[in-house]
Amino acid sequence: MDGRRWLKVAILLCLVVVSAGRELKFRHNHQFPIYNHTLATILVEYASAVYLSDLTELFTWTCSRCDGLTKGFEMIELIVDVQHCLQGFVGVAKDLNAIVIAFRGTQERSIQNWVEDLYWKQLDLNYPGMPDAMVHHGFYNAYHNTTVRPGVLSAVKEAQELYGDLQIMVTGHSMGGAMAAFCGLDLMVNCKAQNVQVMTFGQPRVGNSAFVSYYNELMPNTIRVTNGHDMVPHLPPYYSYFPQKTYHHFPREVWLHSIGFGSLVYPVEKVCDGSGEDPTCSRSVSGKSISDHLMYYGVKLGGDPEGTCRIVMDPHVAAYRTEDLSGNLVFSKYPSASVLKINTDLDPNVQGSII
Ligand SMILES: *[C@@H]1O[C@H](CO)[C@@H](O)[C@H](O)[C@H]1NC(C)=O
Ligand SMILES: *[C@@H]1O[C@H](CO)[C@@H](O)[C@H](O)[C@H]1NC(C)=O
Repeated sequence: MDGRRWLKVAILLCLVVVSAGRELKFRHNHQFPIYNHTLATILVEYASAVYLSDLTELFTWTCSRCDGLTKGFEMIELIVDVQHCLQGFVGVAKDLNAIVIAFRGTQERSIQNWVEDLYWKQLDLNYPGMPDAMVHHGFYNAYHNTTVRPGVLSAVKEAQELYGDLQIMVTGHSMGGAMAAFCGLDLMVNCKAQNVQVMTFGQPRVGNSAFVSYYNELMPNTIRVTNGHDMVPHLPPYYSYFPQKTYHHFPREVWLHSIGFGSLVYPVEKVCDGSGEDPTCSRSVSGKSISDHLMYYGVKLGGDPEGTCRIVMDPHVAAYRTEDLSGNLVFSKYPSASVLKINTDLDPNVQGSII
């Protein structure tokens, strides 16, 4: 072979390498969500508002937590699964040009007890359609096996009919974050929705590493915010010596914490690596704080008062409701469109203590 031919081969190889490099770089940019601080400070207010038990104030978006950055939110549907003490809503945020879906975290017991129970949650359910992907049945069921899912899906459809194909932003705090992740995945996989993004605050782990691979592939536009020493993101535990068997977080974590000393303390928002289990983020601290769990970006999360499932509504808003045989409620701005599926086949054993 003469020199010129070698040269050609070499040039060709370079081109291949360069274009492969470009391809990778492009995929890299495309693949990873960009953390947007402003958006986080807005979505956390939705995740906070959904905890409130005065359904009138929530439905009409006049609650104490409905003011700041979420002003002007157009509620479409408020879903109250009384049976399992779950709550969520779907509406349109015109300033974000997005449908916002928010889920409440746990309300049924003291947060301390709930967190302690998280240690013992098993990876006991195979996520349908994803070989080897295991999740905890309670988190899965809270979204998939209650009135929450049919309520959310019909409201999303309604919002799309009214406002067109907007971006969908799914959010939630604590267990509501776990539900947000399942909802985002559901919209993407089963409803073929485009443009879904998930942002959660202080959520627990929900599945194993096989689940995380699928999740990450399907829902790359996910940000999982953790705060300081918040205990919940540390649970159920991650066992680094059993990588195939353990719970595993999906990416991308953004860890809020403070660095510095004395009067020189300043806040940092660290965008973590793509593993989901970046050892230099929240995993670098022991994580034993409940108070860090209940405050993100200076916004209070959790119920008021904590730990009750009571609901409050006045006759005006009651007129918008549909109720099923179990007392579950859906409030819809467009009642004709509301489809509260009467879920007769729920497992009676999960009632009242879904996780
Ligand atoms: C961040 O989000 C806000 C609110 O949605 C938006 O106005 C802004 O353009 C976003 N910034 C970037 C860099 O995407
Ligand atoms: C959800 O409910 C259905 C109907 O009762 C049941 O067959 C299924 O096992 C439940 N799913 C899970 C994950 O428990």
